[in-house]
Amino acid sequence: MKPVKVGVLGLGTVGGGTVNVLKRNAAEIARRAGREIIITRASAKDLNKQRICDTQGIALTTDPFEIINDPEIEIVLELIGGAGPVKDMALKAIENGKHVVTANKSLIALHGNEIFAKASEKGVIVAFEAAVAGGIPIIKAIREGLSGNQIEWLAGIINGTGNFILTEMRDKGRDFSDVLAEAQALGYAEADPTFDVEGIDAGHKLTILASIAFGIPLQFDKVFTEGITKITRTDVEYAEQLGYRIKHLGIARKTSEGIELRVHPTLIPERRLIANVNGVMNAVLVKGDAVGPTLYYGAGAGAEPTASSVVADVIDVVRALTSDPENRVPHLAFQADALADIPVLPADMFRTAYYLRLHAEDKPGVLAEVTRILAEHQISIEAISQKVPQDNETSVPIIILTQVTLEKEMNAAIAEIEALQTVTGKVNRIRLETLG
Ligand code: NDP
Ligand code: HSE
Repeated sequence: MKPVKVGVLGLGTVGGGTVNVLKRNAAEIARRAGREIIITRASAKDLNKQRICDTQGIALTTDPFEIINDPEIEIVLELIGGAGPVKDMALKAIENGKHVVTANKSLIALHGNEIFAKASEKGVIVAFEAAVAGGIPIIKAIREGLSGNQIEWLAGIINGTGNFILTEMRDKGRDFSDVLAEAQALGYAEADPTFDVEGIDAGHKLTILASIAFGIPLQFDKVFTEGITKITRTDVEYAEQLGYRIKHLGIARKTSEGIELRVHPTLIPERRLIANVNGVMNAVLVKGDAVGPTLYYGAGAGAEPTASSVVADVIDVVRALTSDPENRVPHLAFQADALADIPVLPADMFRTAYYLRLHAEDKPGVLAEVTRILAEHQISIEAISQKVPQDNETSVPIIILTQVTLEKEMNAAIAEIEALQTVTGKVNRIRLETLG
């Protein structure tokens, strides 16, 4: 059989890693795919730039459309990133009857509904394993491995840069900006690193996970996101004294009222495996009604871990080249005409437990006032402790752990606590999940 010709758009971290893996493992890959897979063309912005891969034998161009319009190319790998011009590239490739493999979560989260509809119309595959959790085959696991289950919830560390920053700050006391610069140098961070630290990248990934877990359309605009920039060493230490770690989690949970989609710093009991996932590693916990909890772990970013997912998608596409489009695994796990219209809940309706840190005057009755407010909002206290004031603090830090409550009640209670004469400054709130 003739080799399958592949064109690569983007030769940066992921594109370079993909070229390396496809070349190095060519023989093994051909044995798996049933055909030889060769990269004949690739594009980048600056052809004089030094690359992490050997581009010998690959025709290079600065114009991605030369590849997209090349009739010889059967599979286009979109490894540029962003959701602007790249959307037109993906749609044009599909229009030209080419299969597309992408690592681009913003493209899928923002434009996936349109892209998959177009792909189905043209009978081509758009594969996106690398878009979520780098090298972990989480899309395949949920879409195929867990397809007999009703997924109840999932929770994951799904941004490598953020987890790398939190780990280095906690373990080595390093500065936020210094660790972020290292993550950028290592090729982990997004072109705009605020996407990593403000939870936008994790929000894109959560959008995709929720869609394939619950069979709902992609709805990034309904994801609640809170970043990691406000996490302090103080909270990390207090959390640890109480037996918790702080992780930046993406959580999707189906409730009787709708679906919670949220990304935020989260206290997790340190005995949970996921609380011990460090550095650039990612992990996703998925709870199915039949299987129970399952955990998937691996590198969340980086050249070859991400290439591992891209190449797996390429092999899947090659294996499916001769299958009828209607007999393929649906893009979003559920048949396109069977996606459900389940509401995504507003933040007010989230149900979670909380860690609260507040500063209050050290005099009788203050704690009673705080606990009265919580009780009036039906918020049960799990633990409460008064800490020793730090060097120049005139008030005492008070840490409260609550049981699960409605976010709306917590917002109201916090506003009332902050209005107390005896409480200074803002209440610092971090959500807490036991993930049991
Ligand atoms: P890089 O910035 O390292 O690479 C982007 C590549 O695209 C570069 O080769 C660049 O060219 C090329 N490029 C940029 N703009 C254009 C353009 N207009 N026309 C043609 N080529 C262009 O990004 P990454 O490899 O890190 O990321 C690629 C995608 O993979 C993104 O969607 C990202 O979110 C995703 N991803 C990244 C991971 C990672 O660990 N880095 C992990 C998982 C997913 P030049 O090199 O000449 O500048
Ligand atoms: N910037 C992303 C991260 C790349 O750090 O997780 C992988 O999607």
